[in-house]
Amino acid sequence: MKILLISDVHSNIQALEAVLAVEVDADAVYCAGDLVDYGPFPREVLDLVRERNIPCVSGNHDERVVAFARSSNTRADMRPQDRHWVHQNVEALDAGDIAFLDALPESLEFTADGHEYHMRHQGAAGYELMQLLPEFEAHWSGRRSPDLEPGQTARVIIGHTHIQAVHYLAADRLWLNPGSVSYRPTRQDLEVSRDAEYMTVVHGEIRFHRLAYDRRKTFLFTRDLPLVDSEKRVGQRLFGADDPT
Ligand SMILES: [Fe+2]
Repeated sequence: MKILLISDVHSNIQALEAVLAVEVDADAVYCAGDLVDYGPFPREVLDLVRERNIPCVSGNHDERVVAFARSSNTRADMRPQDRHWVHQNVEALDAGDIAFLDALPESLEFTADGHEYHMRHQGAAGYELMQLLPEFEAHWSGRRSPDLEPGQTARVIIGHTHIQAVHYLAADRLWLNPGSVSYRPTRQDLEVSRDAEYMTVVHGEIRFHRLAYDRRKTFLFTRDLPLVDSEKRVGQRLFGADDPT
């Protein structure tokens, strides 16, 4: 079985389409949250996730967009210096989209090739790595410890940090982060920050991937978008300050 693990799509439809096109032979796809915010095409991302029926947990940015949508704190004519990504995203979504985001579960579980998976968007310690076994067991709480056969593992999937990792806390206990489909943390190197990262699990074996994608549509949209300066600069860093063609 081949599983495709994605996370932190952040309204980046071009990156998501590129990953799904390359991994077209995946038997299942799971998303660890943050479908929206900090990118220009939330509606297109939600449409594709719904069309493909991709199971997804709720991320902090999904919750943020829902909260803004329900605060009526958005206006299309808002001054550029007051306008954030979240305003642009909320304006692009309708009530059905917001209801979809609001209904995303906090966690989900599945089994594949004998390994047990538990997926949430983030750890209790925010951006900190999960270093200790008790933290792992806290994530695993709410379900019985699985009866694992030799060679099988209990696996926690988390996103949020946008940093790919696989971390073993015991021979049969590990957590993994697929990385972000959309962009790297701004503290990482500029050039690689523009590639899509994700993981596949093929017959239980975890594989890292990085994929360059055509970001021109995202670049052009972001370049001309009225946004507060700080977020405009972040957008230009993520999607390019110069025309990539
Ligand atoms: Fe994120």
